[in-house]
Order: sequence, then structure tokens, then C-alpha cells
Amino acid sequence: MKQGSNTLEKPLTTNKHLIRWVEKMAELTEPDAIHWVDGSQQEYDRLCEEMVASGTAIRLNQETWPGCLLVRSDPRDVARVEDRTFICSLSKDSAGPTNNWIDPFEMRRKLKELFNGSMRGRTMYVLPFSMGPVGSPLSRIGVELTDSPYVVCNMRIMTRIGLPVFNEIDKGEVRVVPCMHSVGMPLAPGEKDLPWPCNDTKYIVHFPETREIWSYGSGYGGNALLGKKCFALRIATNIARDEGWMAEHMLILGVESPEGEKTYVAAAFPSACGKTNLAMLVPPAAFKGWKVTTVGDDIAWIRPDATGQLRAINPESGFFGVAPGTSEKTNPNAMATLHRNTIFTNVALTPDGGVWWEGMTDEPPAECTDWRGQKWTAEIAKQTGAKAAHPNGRFTAPAAQCPSIDAEWENPEGVPISAFVFGGRRSTTIPLVFQAFNWSAGVYVGATMGSETTAAATGAVGVVRRDPMAMLPFCGYHMGDYFRHWITMQRSLTTTPRIFHVNWFRKSDDGKFLWPGFGENMRVLKWIVDRSHGRAQAKETPIGWTPYYEDIDWKGLDFPRDDFEKMQEVYRATWRKEVLGHEELFIDLHDHLPPEMIYQRELLICRL
Ligand code: OXD
Ligand code: MN
Repeated sequence: MKQGSNTLEKPLTTNKHLIRWVEKMAELTEPDAIHWVDGSQQEYDRLCEEMVASGTAIRLNQETWPGCLLVRSDPRDVARVEDRTFICSLSKDSAGPTNNWIDPFEMRRKLKELFNGSMRGRTMYVLPFSMGPVGSPLSRIGVELTDSPYVVCNMRIMTRIGLPVFNEIDKGEVRVVPCMHSVGMPLAPGEKDLPWPCNDTKYIVHFPETREIWSYGSGYGGNALLGKKCFALRIATNIARDEGWMAEHMLILGVESPEGEKTYVAAAFPSACGKTNLAMLVPPAAFKGWKVTTVGDDIAWIRPDATGQLRAINPESGFFGVAPGTSEKTNPNAMATLHRNTIFTNVALTPDGGVWWEGMTDEPPAECTDWRGQKWTAEIAKQTGAKAAHPNGRFTAPAAQCPSIDAEWENPEGVPISAFVFGGRRSTTIPLVFQAFNWSAGVYVGATMGSETTAAATGAVGVVRRDPMAMLPFCGYHMGDYFRHWITMQRSLTTTPRIFHVNWFRKSDDGKFLWPGFGENMRVLKWIVDRSHGRAQAKETPIGWTPYYEDIDWKGLDFPRDDFEKMQEVYRATWRKEVLGHEELFIDLHDHLPPEMIYQRELLICRL
């Protein structure tokens, strides 16, 4: 940091290590100013005001969208960059074949080069954040140094930030995860800034041994909001393995019966499989007195308590949800959540100062401004294929605003988990629901889960990609060791959650979805809950237990028995092929696979 060029602000911490680190990073990145983030409403409002003034953000109509902003990113910075994401463990072997690895010493040299002067002309924000309720024994703390006010504002919604977190740090009892972030676009004196500064060179780097995160070149989502995927999953999987708990890409929901029995379920699905929708499910009208409540929609930190019961917290405090496809029909709770105090990114702006995206309403607005700032009409879309909102356009909304938020969602001890659910998008082979025979079999089901690629992702469409526990891009160490960790977790449990697999996406031979999904998924959830309490019946099949038609509660839905049988059918020949797909993944991981995975595969083959 050049002497005299920096606006000096009094640190909001007394922690010498933190102050020294901030100084060192400021010397490296040379910001014009340092701001210690207190997390207050006034500070948030001021940053929003500055983003509006600089052209980064647009204030929406404050009568219809109070407290809401719209931001448009650079079209080259619209999603997580998995191919630029690195796990720089000391040995390549600990990162495993599913992660990108670069030697940590080489990477540190590279990062030093990239961050050298990278914040010139900008403010460095010192942003302390807690993943999980401040002070909870399950929570962990990070400090992100970032040159992006957009990141600060999003992190204020997604995590707990500011003074209470500095206070926690000042107690001197917690280990802080340092998170460096720069958009990688320093400004020369007098140079005009861009609405969305970023750099074509991008590095999202994790050092698992030293528990550090360095992110360069992107301002978007999981690349830049470092509490989310980088900390709460990639670094946290490492911490969790060492400390005997679990960091999972899972929603957490509660199911409450009319009698007041409450059951919590955690569920892992890859992207674009309806995780947020399931977390906020509205039961069908016929399910009078039943309630589904939301603890989290993306990440679960899960740990055995003193009695050997698994308890989970949502480490986040907001939803960073995909906007397209979200509507009053598909997810009324999400729609109610995002109507105030929300930051929208890469969705369309309507002439009355509102937002719109594909799937929000049946009829598009007559005209709007698309996510690139261009005029958009349905006619233009027909001619050019232009989307009003980017398929990965997002809303960042406070969880506390969600009408279905669970009363216990901030309980520092977490909520007790009775069932795990794995799911993917599969048009064939996989039944609507089945239960694994036991814990090891369930770990095998999660480890081998697959999902068909969608048009939103690059590459061929409809190809089954193995995505173990929906953690392929998020596990911060060797996937084989991660399966072993799952297997060994059972030893610390007195009550073992039941493990299930669901597939809302099976199709008939003529290509139609067999299952209506959305609210009707309540029927499947109810069977899962009943099974977890040892109540409902089930039929034994080669892959696990499946419900009989009579075991599903059909009240209020005339669903033909034939269609149900089709959905639940386990074809041995197709399943034998399915197992070959499991093998492909296992070949890559073989030298780290726990023996249980091999036994489970053998058992499955024998049963088929
Ligand atoms: C997310 C993701 O943003 O999984 O949650 O990509
Ligand atoms: Mn996710």
C-alpha cells in the first residue's frame, strides 16, 4: 500500500493477527482505501446507493419491490467456473481425480503475481462473516477481503456479517478462514470504472491444509461470495472430515404432521433438480394440517450431538436461488421471499421498474429490458433466441423473509435429522422413490447417483453424469476418502438416519413426465417420514425397498395404479447397465474407495 494513498480507518477488531494480515494484503493489492465492514443497515444502504450512483445497480420500483436492486453482470462472468476452480493440497493424491490440482507453491507464486496491485483505485472491504448463527458450536468464521461492494451486499444477505462477528474473533478462541477476493481490474488514476469489473483470467483457489481461499477475476455467485461453495463446502468438507462431522450440498426441511410430529429431512440434488422448490414445498390442499418448513435450500452442516443423534444447521442466512422457472405455481414461498430486500442479478427489467424471467408468468411482459440491457420482446426472442433473463440469473434474498421458514432454523444446536434423500434427473431406470437397505447401501446409492445434463450446461444434453452426493464440484478432497468418511460417520451415531433416493423426472415411453412433481412430492415425503419412523410398508426389490401403491397417501389426487407401477418398475436389465455406469466412476477412484463400496456393488449385482 502506497503511503498516503490510503484512507486509514480504525480497525473494528483488536485481533493482532487479523490486523497484520489485512495490512499485508493491502501492501500486496494496494487499494485506495480500507473499509472495515460493521454490517449495519446504514452501511448496506450507503453501499447500495454507491452502486446505483456508479451504474452497477438499478433500484427497482420501491412501491412494488421495496429494498430491491437489479444488477447486470459482464456477459463473460455469469456462473461458477468449475474448470478454473482448484484444490491446491500439498499432494495431488489428496485432491483426487475429480478436482483440478496445481502445486500449492506454484499456485502461491501465481496468486501473488495476480493480486499484486489488483485493488488499485478501489476500496478493500474487510468483511467478517459467520457461517451459521454467531456463536453456535456448529458455526465457523471467515474474513473476506474483497474489492467488490456487490459482494459485500450479497454476503450481508447470505451470511451473518459485521460487528458481532468481529466480537467473536476478538474472543481469540476461533480459527478464522482467510478469504481473499479481487475482481482483478485495478483502476489507473482517473480511469472510469465499469458497471461490472472482472477479468478474463479467473482463479478460484482453495488451500485445504491451511484453510485458505483465494479468488481472482470473477464477481459472480459461488466464485465471489466465498462463504458459500468455497468455504461452506470445499474448505468445510476438509474441516468436517478432520473433526468428525459432515458438510453437505443439501437442503434441510421439516415435515410437520397434523398431530404436531416434526421430522427433519436433508436432501442432496445436483443443480437444476428443484432443490429450492422442495425445501419450500407447499403440500396439496388435501393434506390438511400438514406443513413443510424450510431450514435451508443449499448447504447443510451436520454433526452428531452428545447422544449420537445427527443435528444439522444451515450455515447460510439467505437464498441465492436460480430465478428462471421460479413462479407462483412452482414456488410461491420463494416468490413471497424475493419481493423485498432482494438483489437480483441477470434477470430482465420491466418498464414499471419490476423484474421478470422466463417461467415467472405464463405470458411474458409486452416488452422488457433483458439481462444484457437490450430491448426484449417475445417476438425478438422468437427471431433471435435471446433470453430475457440469463438461465443462471439469480435472486439473493434473506431466509428470514421466507413464509415457510422453520421456527428452529437459527437454533445454534441445529435440528435433528431423521432421513437423507438423494436425487437426480433421470428419465429412465430410477424409480420415483426407494429406500436403501442400510447405511452402507445408502452411502452407495448417494455415491453412485447420476443426473442427466440439461441444456443450461455445456456439453451433450441428456447424458447421465455421475455426481456423487451432488458434491462433484464441491468436495474439497479425494472423493474416495469422502465416501469413507460417510461410512465411518455411522460409528458415532446411536440413531442412524434412513437413506432414500427419489427421481421426480422419470418419463413414459412417449416422453411425458410420469410424476406431476412440485407440491405432489409431499406424498413421497410422507412415505419417507413414515419409513423413518418405522411405520409404512414396503416391498423388497434388488435395489432397495419401494412403496406399494397402497403405501402412498393419494388423498385429493386421482393417480392411476398403472402409472405408479410404471414409475416404480425396477428393470433388471436396465439396472445391470446402470451398475456399469457406477463402475466408470469407481475405476477413477479405486485406490481410495472404502471396501464397503465394492461390497455394496457386488451385492447389488448379485441381487440383479
Ligand atoms: C448453487 C449451485 O448456486 O449449486 O447453489 O450452483
Ligand atoms: Mn448449490
